[in-house]
This record gives sequence, C-alpha cells and structure tokens, in this order.
Amino acid sequence: MSLFPFGMPVPKEEIIDREDFLMSVKNRLLMGQNLVLAGPRRIGKTSLALELLRQLKDEGYYTVFVDMFRLSGKNMFSKVLVDACLGNRTKITNTLEQVKQNFLHSSKLSLKLKGLELSLTRSNKTVSDDELFDYALNLTEKLAQADKKKLIVVFDEFQEIERIAGENSLKVIRAHIQLHTHVNYLFMGSQTSMMKTIFSNQNQAFYRFAISLPVPPIPPEAMAQYITKKFTEQDIEILPEAIRMILDITGGHPQDTMLVCSESYQALVDDKRKTLNIEHVFLGRDRAFAFLSQGFNEIIESIDPVAKTLLLRIARAESLYSKGNHPNTIKRTLDQLMDKGIIQKIERGKYDFVEPMFKGYFSL
Ligand SMILES: Nc1ncnc2c1ncn2[C@@H]1O[C@H](COP(=O)(O)OP(=O)(O)OP(=O)(O)O)[C@@H](O)[C@H]1O
Ligand SMILES: [Mg+2]
Repeated sequence: MSLFPFGMPVPKEEIIDREDFLMSVKNRLLMGQNLVLAGPRRIGKTSLALELLRQLKDEGYYTVFVDMFRLSGKNMFSKVLVDACLGNRTKITNTLEQVKQNFLHSSKLSLKLKGLELSLTRSNKTVSDDELFDYALNLTEKLAQADKKKLIVVFDEFQEIERIAGENSLKVIRAHIQLHTHVNYLFMGSQTSMMKTIFSNQNQAFYRFAISLPVPPIPPEAMAQYITKKFTEQDIEILPEAIRMILDITGGHPQDTMLVCSESYQALVDDKRKTLNIEHVFLGRDRAFAFLSQGFNEIIESIDPVAKTLLLRIARAESLYSKGNHPNTIKRTLDQLMDKGIIQKIERGKYDFVEPMFKGYFSL
C-alpha cells in the first residue's frame, strides 16, 4: 500500500475522522433502525462500512456485506447473500454448490446449515432464481434467530438492485425484510439521485423504509493533522503553507487529497529532500491532474454543450442564466448534472462542483 492510500477502501488506521459518525451509524443500527448512506464517489463510504462491520463482528454481532457492483444477476446476488450469511458460522464458501453436489454429509457443512432449512437446494429438485432469491432474503432473519444473534447487513451500491434482480425486486425485498426483527440494514450508494428515488419517492417500495444520513465532510483540521502525522512518520517535515496548499487544491475531497499527498511525496523523494514545500505540492498537483484527466475527459465528453457551458460558468462563478438558453433548459441541465453527481446545490440558485479538482481542471 502506498503511503497515502487511494483507489480502494482504506484500513482502520488510515480512516481520517470518522469516529463520531461511525459511532452514530452503529448505535442507530443496533437500536433497530435501517439506514441509507448515499454520497458521491470516493468519499469513503465503503471504508466506513467495512470498519463498522469489523467493529460489530469484534463485539459478537453477525455481519453481512454485499457489494452490488460486482453482481450480474438475481441468482448471483442470492448465492453471494447466502454465502455471506453462512460465513458467520464457518469459513466454508460456495455453500450452495457444495450442497448441490451432495457434500452435505460433511459435518462442517451440516453444522453450517443447521436450522436453516436449506433442503430446498438439496436433492434433484431444481430451484428457480425466484425461489432462491426468496430463500436468500429470508436467510438473514432465519440465521439471526436460529443463532440468537443480531445481524447487520450492508448492501453497498444498492442502486444497482434493479439492474441485477429486475424491476420488481425492490417490492420483493421490501416485502421480506420489513418482517425482520433480528436484522437491520444499511443501504449505501454512490448514485445519489438513484438512491433518492428508491428511498424518498412515494411510489417506490422503499419509501420511508430507512433513515437517510448524509456523510459529513472531513474537517480540514483533521486532514491537516493526518497529513502531518504521515509525513512526520517518514521523518519528513511539511511546511504549514504546503498543507494549506494541498487542501486548497483538493478542497478536502478525501481521495483527491490522498492522491495529491502521494504525488507530492513522490516529488519530494525525487528531489532527495527532507522538507516538503510548495514546489513539491505544485508538482504533485500536476501529476495528480495527469492521473485524473482521463476520467475528467470522459465526463466532459459525455455531456452536452449546454451542460459544458454551465459547468464553465459555475467554475468561474458567473451567472448561470443568459439570453441564449431558456431558463427551463438551464434548470433541466442543472438537474441532469446533479443526477450525474457532478455538481451539488449549495443554496437556492447556487451550485458548485462535487469534486473541487474537477472544477480546477475545468477552469484550466
Ligand atoms: N475518511 C477517509 N480517510 C482517508 N481516506 C479516505 C477517507 N475517505 C475516503 N478516502 C479516500 O477515498 C478512497 C476511496 O474510499 P472508499 O472506497 O471507501 O470510498 P467510496 O465512497 O466507497 O468510493 P466509491 O464511490 O468509489 O465506492 C480511499 O482509497 C482514500 O484514498
Ligand atoms: Mg464504495
């Protein structure tokens, strides 16, 4: 792992300033609430969830984590969920395959399945995807009850559910899990508008099923402290103005800050110095932009000319309304840019980029 990790969920020691938020999420789940955490890409949702589950597991609770990005169908979803449930008992994987192949005599496996009525997958009977889906969705509660444990389930990237399990799946899931008394659910997602539709739209099955919590921004002081600590551990002094510059460039965006720190550190190493100054940060910033530019360009290519104009105006803090475009067109385009997670509303009529470095790139 690089000194400043990025691009994947980070381990506990590298998670900056999430203790209070994590504690509150944990307490709510244990008190019996179902929660939604939706937030833009790369702000640390998965890191937070994994740390939450590590803590819960240490405290003796049962846990399940399902990353929905990786799944391609209902059958796969069900199998992954069953495996994740049973993983709380033993470490055997691919349970359903093993059951099918009649390894059920194995004592470990029968222990794993005790009290869970897995007979439906046994013998010659073929099980439909829908049956398996129902079984998997109920297994959470069945397992928790059988073992007298509380179980916390995290569905990461939950907005993928309809792609994976079909249009009707939200209704089916809701019908099952609303009856669960030993299990609580944390639904997470990076497509904020889709998550909002699922949980706040009156016509949706999940309307008001879970409480939505915003992921709080990381305070700049906490970021600065972490950065200082990491460099100090390497016997490197970092000038206060260099830290300020890093946070100025990234706007405190968690992953971008890690990236600029990492590249600034590289610039310092190449320079064979022991004090990190602003010059290193500028080099780090340029390298970070080089790294990020492909993704930024893809976004820019995917949006229409009106959207580009609006982004440019937002980047330059200019008025969004002009003679050339009808106000309705502007409103619609702004909504689309918000749906895509590119901009967010700051206050009435005022918008800003979600990722400050994308704003910086746009104004270059
Ligand atoms: N609290 C944090 N402390 C340190 N780094 C963080 C934090 N939050 C996010 N990061 C940075 O963001 C990167 C991505 O973290 P993670 O995968 O947890 O985010 P995510 O919101 O789940 O992202 P995605 O939308 O891609 O699923 C990490 O590798 C790290 O560089
Ligand atoms: Mg994630």
